[in-house]
Amino acid sequence: KAGYRVHSFVFPAGEGSKNLSTYADVLHFLGEHRFSRSDVVVALGGCVVGDLAGFCASTLFRGVDVIQIPTTLLAQVDSSVGGKTAIDVPQGKNLVGTFYQPKQVIIDTETLKTLPGKEFASGLAEVIKYGAIWDKALFSRLEEAEGKDALLENIADIVFTCCDIKRQVVEKDEHDTGLRMILNFGHTAGRIVEKAYHYTGYTHGQAVAFGMIVASRLGEKMGRTALGTAE
Ligand code: GLY
Repeated sequence: KAGYRVHSFVFPAGEGSKNLSTYADVLHFLGEHRFSRSDVVVALGGCVVGDLAGFCASTLFRGVDVIQIPTTLLAQVDSSVGGKTAIDVPQGKNLVGTFYQPKQVIIDTETLKTLPGKEFASGLAEVIKYGAIWDKALFSRLEEAEGKDALLENIADIVFTCCDIKRQVVEKDEHDTGLRMILNFGHTAGRIVEKAYHYTGYTHGQAVAFGMIVASRLGEKMGRTALGTAE
């Protein structure tokens, strides 16, 4: 309506689409529609869409603008912010990608009201992660919240808090060689679960939740984490 020409490339939801074949399809699509350096890729969807669209944008013509409009909780608090792009290859998830900052991230938390409960809970695991690694007040707030509706009432504030924590981390270590690794809390054991169940048995959030418990228990066992932390 504002006078832009918009071409939509829609693909099946799910991690199974985040591969070289969809990447090639997107590039062909953009070529067919004479996409130029002055155009912009808009990623509208969850983590898979954001990661894939970001990777396409970062490699086409050595980089064209991308705007992220994440519609899931996981994408809003994590994958749309900080500039990591990726596709999966047979050897593993996210093994091919770039660091490429979006021009804008536009978050409308109204979209979260349409998410199935399991999808919302999956994103919540990453929210809990921010509480555990950085923000005691956020952690207590989540512990005290009485269910999904109570959380949804304050969700814009919670999403903002998470993005702001991520901003602080990424500003200090954009390329993931030090502090940024803190964002991977729970992801080591979590990735093993995801891979073992072929990325379909458990959601990413469920795996990360499990991984945070494993990491905390291991830390306690090794004497590096205060006793009682895992509990
Ligand atoms: N999802 C972890 C990071 O962006 O570093």
